[in-house]
Amino acid sequence: MPQDDRQRWNDRYQRAPEQREPSDFLRSLADRLPTTGRALDLAGGQGQDARWLAKRGLDVTLVDLSDVALEQAGALARAEGWSLQLARLDLEVEPLPPGPFDLVVCLNYLWRPLFAALPRVLTPGGLFVFAQPTRSNLQRHPHPSARFLLEDGELPTLLQEFETLSSTEGWTDAGRHEARVLARRHRQ
Ligand SMILES: C[S@@+](CC[C@H](N)C(=O)[O-])C[C@H]1O[C@@H](n2cnc3c(N)ncnc32)[C@H](O)[C@@H]1O
Repeated sequence: MPQDDRQRWNDRYQRAPEQREPSDFLRSLADRLPTTGRALDLAGGQGQDARWLAKRGLDVTLVDLSDVALEQAGALARAEGWSLQLARLDLEVEPLPPGPFDLVVCLNYLWRPLFAALPRVLTPGGLFVFAQPTRSNLQRHPHPSARFLLEDGELPTLLQEFETLSSTEGWTDAGRHEARVLARRHRQ
């Protein structure tokens, strides 16, 4: 990796230190997500989703490649009175933090090998929330570029280790073509 990737993300976060809102999709699942236990936010950037989960009562670990994003997330959490566990990891080459987690969230980051690795860090019955734009998104937006996109219809094929609780694919209210899922690790 991608030292270049880290630098690129650090530069981007340094240029855009503003506080973002938690994901609409994540918030739409509020009634179905745990409010106790441990959560893992993968490639969680400035931590808007991690902080929302912490505020709801979870002990949250936020993982990202970017030191700058993690510093911003930690500072924003402290300012709001929450604490996050922060881990600088390259998810393409380093192992996931030790679980077990009751909830794993991965929004707007795609590294396909994670789908096979995640059940090992989830509790039996633990939940997985994932959303990522698909190739159709290019019809309206040049970014993310094709290498960061799911193929249309691909997401269900990546979820063989999970029981899918709800899954959608299509244009969102925000005008992106996304595949979204709430899934559960099998209990055995
Ligand atoms: C599009 S942003 C999404 C951030 C956040 N999940 C959100 O929805 O706003 C992608 C994030 O992935 C992180 N990232 C990129 N490559 C990574 C890698 N190899 N390992 C861990 N994080 C990575 C970036 O630093 C960035 O924060």
